[in-house]
Amino acid sequence: MKITNKTAIDLYCGSGAVTAGLKSAGFQVVCAIDVDPIACATYRANHPEVHLFEEDIKTISPKRFANDLKGSLDLLAVCAPCQPFSNRNRHKSTKDQRAKLVLEALSFVEELKPKLVFFENVPGIGRQPVFNELAEKMVALGYHLSPPKKIDAADLGVPQRRQRMILIGARNDDLLTQASKINFSKRRTVFDVIGNLPSPPVGIENIENDVLHYSRRHSVITIERLQHIPHDGGSRDNLPPQLQLRCHKDLNKNSYPDSYGRLKWRDVAPTLTTGCTDLTKGRYAHPVEDRAITLREAARLQSFPDDYIFVGNASQIATQIGNSVPPTMMHGIAKTLYSALSNNSSASL
Ligand SMILES: C[S@@+](CC[C@H](N)C(=O)[O-])C[C@H]1O[C@@H](n2cnc3c(N)ncnc32)[C@H](O)[C@@H]1O
Repeated sequence: MKITNKTAIDLYCGSGAVTAGLKSAGFQVVCAIDVDPIACATYRANHPEVHLFEEDIKTISPKRFANDLKGSLDLLAVCAPCQPFSNRNRHKSTKDQRAKLVLEALSFVEELKPKLVFFENVPGIGRQPVFNELAEKMVALGYHLSPPKKIDAADLGVPQRRQRMILIGARNDDLLTQASKINFSKRRTVFDVIGNLPSPPVGIENIENDVLHYSRRHSVITIERLQHIPHDGGSRDNLPPQLQLRCHKDLNKNSYPDSYGRLKWRDVAPTLTTGCTDLTKGRYAHPVEDRAITLREAARLQSFPDDYIFVGNASQIATQIGNSVPPTMMHGIAKTLYSALSNNSSASL
C-alpha cells in the first residue's frame, strides 16, 4: 500500500459518506469495515481504492492491520450504529446488543494507536453507561478526550437539522485543542439544493435522465390529503376531518407528528431518516408539489453529490441515505482534523 497522505480507517463505513468527507479533506482512507452487503456494494462503487472488509467487526482482529499501520495511523473514525440511543427508536431496549458495538473500536485504538480518534453518534449516547465505559477506557489507553460536543449538521453547510454528538480523542492536549476547533459554515436551505430540480416523472419505469429522481406513486386519497396541506411548510393540521387518519387523531398513538408535512423552501430540512421518502414517516412532502421527495432530493438534502452511486432498490437507497453522516458535515470536521494533524506531525503517546 503506497501511503501519500494523512491516513484514516473508517469503522462502520456504511455506504461511504464519512470516507467521502475524509477524502475531500485530504485523507487517504486505507481500510474500512461494514457488515451490510448493500452498503458495501455502494461503498465499493464509490471508493474502489479502499481496502473494504465486508465482515462483522467482532470477527476482525485489528492485528490484521498492525504491520502496515501500527503507530503511523493518523485517524480512526468510528460512526457506530445509533439506533440503540436514538429518540426516534420506539423499540429501544437496554438489551440491544448494538449499543456495545461502539466499544469494538477500543481494540483498534489499543493495537494501532492512531493519533486521533473521532466518534460520531446521536446525542442520546451521552446518557448511556456505554458512553462512560468508552470514555474511561480511552483515557486508560492514554488518550486525551474532548468534552462530548453537540453539533448540528445545519451549521456545517448541510441543508438539514441533524443533531449529532462528537467526541475526539488525541494523543496529546495540543493536538486535541486544535482538532476540536471546528469551523462553522454558512447555512444552506432546501431551496438552495433542490429548488432547481425539474418535476420528476411518476414511477420508476418512467425515469428519464436521473435514476434517483422519480416520484412514488401515491394513492388518490394521499394526493387529496396533500392538496389540502399549505405549500411551503404546511402540516396535516390543515386536513379536513374526513381526510384525517384515525391514528393522527389519537395523539397517544401518534409516533410521527410531522407526517404529511411539507418542507419549507427557505429553511433547512428536518432530520432525514431511513424513511425519508415516505410521507407517513416525517415531514418529507415537497414544498409545493403534491408528492413525497424523491431519492435525488433526499440525497441532495443529505449533501451527497449527484455523481455518488447508490446500489440497491428504492428502500435500500433511502436506508443508506438516512443512515449516513452527511458528507459535507464530515468534510467540515475532517478539514479541522487534517490541519490539526499537519501542525502536530510528531504527536505520540
Ligand atoms: C450509522 S451507520 C454508519 C454510516 C456511515 N458511517 C456513513 O457515513 O454512511 C452504522 C453502520 O454500522 C454497520 N454495522 C452494524 N453492525 C455491524 C457489525 N457488527 N460489524 C460491522 N458493521 C456493522 C451497519 O451496517 C451500518 O452501515
